[in-house]
Amino acid sequence: MLQKKQVVTGEEQQVVFTIPIFEPMPSQYYIRVVSDRWLGSEAVCIINFQHLILPERHPPHTELLDLQPLPVSALGNREYESLYKFTHFNPIQTQIFHTLYHSDTNVLLGAPTGSGKTIAAELAIFRVFNQYPGSKVVYIAPLKALVRERIEDWKIRIQEQLGKKVVELTGDVTPDMRAISQADLIVTTPEKWDGVSRSWHNRSYVQKVAILIIDEIHLLGEDRGPVLEVIVSRTNFISSHTNRKVRVVGLLYIFYSTITACLPGCCQRPRPRRLAGHRTGGSV
Ligand SMILES: Nc1ncnc2c1ncn2[C@@H]1O[C@H](COP(=O)(O)OP(=O)(O)OP(=O)(O)O)[C@@H](O)[C@H]1O
Ligand SMILES: [Mg+2]
Repeated sequence: MLQKKQVVTGEEQQVVFTIPIFEPMPSQYYIRVVSDRWLGSEAVCIINFQHLILPERHPPHTELLDLQPLPVSALGNREYESLYKFTHFNPIQTQIFHTLYHSDTNVLLGAPTGSGKTIAAELAIFRVFNQYPGSKVVYIAPLKALVRERIEDWKIRIQEQLGKKVVELTGDVTPDMRAISQADLIVTTPEKWDGVSRSWHNRSYVQKVAILIIDEIHLLGEDRGPVLEVIVSRTNFISSHTNRKVRVVGLLYIFYSTITACLPGCCQRPRPRRLAGHRTGGSV
């Protein structure tokens, strides 16, 4: 709100707003700001686009390298290794192993169906178990059926075999507060986690989240994209208040065999964009 005093004293004002850019891009924009309260309070500004550098429309994906398959013993933990029936990670898992298991970088992994993205999620989960005991892992799947499927698998492999507590949290299944606060791994849907994390002030377990894994992002169409946006923004907000970094790992289906990106801070996008532009329908 512009005060009369500020206008009289000629105090410099800052107006922050967003303008769309259409293609073909014009050489310049004339921006006129007119006060709807104070007569004669207006300013014109010319923005020259000639030397404007925009982010890449389609950021380059990471090429799949021809690496020697990594043995599961790279996990350095017999219990984790025993969860896998195979002896070696596949090419995608081999390439992202270090980033997921030995760093806290945010990751966006796009890979085809059946390429073992669940194992990628598990690598990031094991890192939390190793490095941040007492913290919580939140895994989000867009459908209750997918949550169920994960629960059935992880109740055996992560709860029974690793001794970590796994809870299901959906519109249909709401465990008691004690179970959630004792859980190591919470498997939930975007809408449920949105509702739960809204009251993060009163829910200490929300503040203990160390990682947010969002699977099957491609299934969150136009209508559910905002929920995802809200969850990730709130996560960053909570993180800035608690001074605890919360890692975000996104997994999505793409139909060709390359890693879309391993982006530090992938959720701090410079401008809204589709995550997978080659796909039709749905954006986040
Ligand atoms: N390195 C591996 N060696 C052999 N089998 C593997 C390996 N990694 C994963 N698998 C198996 O491949 C199958 C598919 O894995 P997963 O469900 O994780 O794929 P996905 O990428 O999540 O697929 P979707 O897009 O359908 O969700 C599983 O049965 C899994 O056990
Ligand atoms: Mg999957």
